[in-house]
Amino acid sequence: MNDATSIKPAAGRPSSGAPAIEARDLVMRFGAGGPSPVLAVDHVSFALAPGEFVSLIGPSGCGKTTILNLLTGLLHETHEGQLHVLGKPPREGNPDIAYMLARDSLLPWRTTLANAAYGMEIRGVPKQERETRARDLLKQVGLGDFADKYPKALSHGMRQRCALARTFALDSPVLLMDEPFGALDAQTKLTLEDVLMNLWSTHRKTVVFVTHDLAEAIALSDRVIVMSARPGRIVADVPIDLPRPRSVRKLQSDHRFHDLYAQLWGLLEQGATGDE
Ligand SMILES: Nc1ncnc2c1ncn2[C@@H]1O[C@H](COP(=O)(O)OP(=O)(O)OP(=O)(O)O)[C@@H](O)[C@H]1O
Ligand SMILES: [Mg+2]
Repeated sequence: MNDATSIKPAAGRPSSGAPAIEARDLVMRFGAGGPSPVLAVDHVSFALAPGEFVSLIGPSGCGKTTILNLLTGLLHETHEGQLHVLGKPPREGNPDIAYMLARDSLLPWRTTLANAAYGMEIRGVPKQERETRARDLLKQVGLGDFADKYPKALSHGMRQRCALARTFALDSPVLLMDEPFGALDAQTKLTLEDVLMNLWSTHRKTVVFVTHDLAEAIALSDRVIVMSARPGRIVADVPIDLPRPRSVRKLQSDHRFHDLYAQLWGLLEQGATGDE
């Protein structure tokens, strides 16, 4: 299995220059023009440098998933403000983006290998290349010996490892992750966070990571954006200046980690009461 507690060094700080992701004065109102519109996101602005890992935290219903969906171009309702991914407005099926959700969406009739290769198959990557890449990624997430097994033979944590392999195998420069470890037990979660840190250090993607777990946000991120209750606004954008490489487990005994936790908790409380 993967040695999840040893993390390879990150490949340097994010480069300066054009942002990989940029939102400016983003407003999202569901059912606009109807009898009961819902203001979900209210004048949100942020930018991510290429290779940055940024977490988005905030109360349930504050618009985190909505922001990710807007970035993918999956939401067909119109928004106000500007949104750019690698300099271009969002569009559905954008190969620059890979999206990973809380529940693994492994197909039960496919092997672990075929599941890890599935996203590439949809994108038309040639068979030989996708198999090679999927095998390589499965090794990186510690599933090298399970390539021929079916999902029913995998634990929940192993299925999320496979989903991580599939996401990184796409080799998209931008990853959107919506509570990918939200349904895991605490121990498995720590292990998977380290697996993710390893992958990110190796592949250095730009990541927007949504979570309700403050410890997870601190352990993984370069910055944490704190949102208020609906309508979602940005309460704070907190740099996480803990040195890398990090071990998620070792951080639990670092006082700076606990200081950041208290700071983020305070900010969440501050934004806990929305307008509606
Ligand atoms: N397709 C939709 N149509 C109408 N309203 C929607 C739609 N999607 C989201 N909303 C509303 O927008 C608001 C933000 O929802 P969103 O799912 O983005 O919240 P969230 O921050 O991801 O919450 P959680 O932490 O519970 O996942 C909610 O009030 C929700 O009801
Ligand atoms: Mg959500």
